[in-house]
Amino acid sequence: MQKGVTVWFTGLSGAGKTTISRLVETKLIESGIRVEAFDGDVVRRNLTADLGFSKEDRQKNIERVAFVAKLLTRNDVIVLASFISPYRQMRDYCRQEIGSFIEVFVKCSLAECIRRDVKGLYKKALNGEIPGFTGISDPFEEPDNPDIALDTEIEEPVESAAKIIEYLKQHRYIT
Ligand code: PPS
Ligand code: MG
Repeated sequence: MQKGVTVWFTGLSGAGKTTISRLVETKLIESGIRVEAFDGDVVRRNLTADLGFSKEDRQKNIERVAFVAKLLTRNDVIVLASFISPYRQMRDYCRQEIGSFIEVFVKCSLAECIRRDVKGLYKKALNGEIPGFTGISDPFEEPDNPDIALDTEIEEPVESAAKIIEYLKQHRYIT
């Protein structure tokens, strides 16, 4: 049994959104649960390939994802959405639009994200090669009151993923 919900992972680039959401996805699939995962890097190659990283474009990116997430959620799919979604107002819009919504703050300090620099983007951003890079030259508004907060400087990705699964069970989205 499953009840539709969108699990929305927000956080800086390199904080662990994609990694954790993949682990959750695998776990859910293993349990025979219908799940669909959306990720900024992937969505931006197809659904929103026409968009960049201005505030307006980020807004459109999130609006399109929210639209699709809403359709799936109302069909009782568990939707995992990993987007920086740096503005509070965007995330509040998603909650309103989708209805069944869990905001997950994937928390990691900027210093640690820069240290990890998995994709080498921070180095480029710090050199001025990527204008408007979140955390460096573009804002990230931390969630005030997320449903779940994961500290990826302390927890291992599997522990973070387990917290999500536990939350879904406790709130009866999956049984
Ligand atoms: S947003 O703000 O929610 O629309 O961004 P999102 O769709 O999640 O896309 C984030 C990924 O795009 C890459 N990238 C950038 N991120 C932030 N700022 C700038 N300027 C930028 N340019 C490219 C980066 O790989 C992000 O992936 P993650 O997984 O967050 O590291
Ligand atoms: Mg990612």
